[in-house]
Amino acid sequence: MAQSWYERNLLPYLLDIAFDAKPSRKQRAKVIPLARGRVLEFGIGTGLNMPFDDRSRVRRIVGVDPSMHMHRLALKRIRRAGIEVELVGLCAKALPIADASFDTVVSTYTPCARSRTPSRPSGRCAAFSSPAASSCSPNMDEHRMRTSSAG
Ligand SMILES: C[S@@+](CC[C@H](N)C(=O)[O-])C[C@H]1O[C@@H](n2cnc3c(N)ncnc32)[C@H](O)[C@@H]1O
Repeated sequence: MAQSWYERNLLPYLLDIAFDAKPSRKQRAKVIPLARGRVLEFGIGTGLNMPFDDRSRVRRIVGVDPSMHMHRLALKRIRRAGIEVELVGLCAKALPIADASFDTVVSTYTPCARSRTPSRPSGRCAAFSSPAASSCSPNMDEHRMRTSSAG
């Protein structure tokens, strides 16, 4: 399903501003530094969690989000963070990954649609939420992009 002009050009910027408010940053500062090792982030959005990642502990992040336009905004924060990140343009429940393959699963303000979290039995889940609704399109093209500020 094609996205509207508003969804492509305005919504990512509005969400970026709205979710970068002081109370959100306070929550992120409490939760995100708990992430370790290989991290799966559902709904990475514009990368607002990335400045809070502890780069000495996080080895790699796989960021899953169906919105390509959020990805564009995420790129600048990814470059600054100095952590290898793979962006996957899919809904959480469509992600073809084995259970127990991540050390940490992160989900913040994201309507996460997976019934089982793919973290190790000893893994952690760093999450907080709001009652936002999912707007996932099944026709969204899969898109993968590997990037790293080091590379
Ligand atoms: C309100 S934004 C929050 C972004 C980011 N987690 C944050 O804390 O700033 C919600 C994000 O979830 C994404 N999203 C919505 N439904 C999703 C789904 N089923 N799977 C993965 N991401 C989803 C949206 O595209 C959007 O980027």
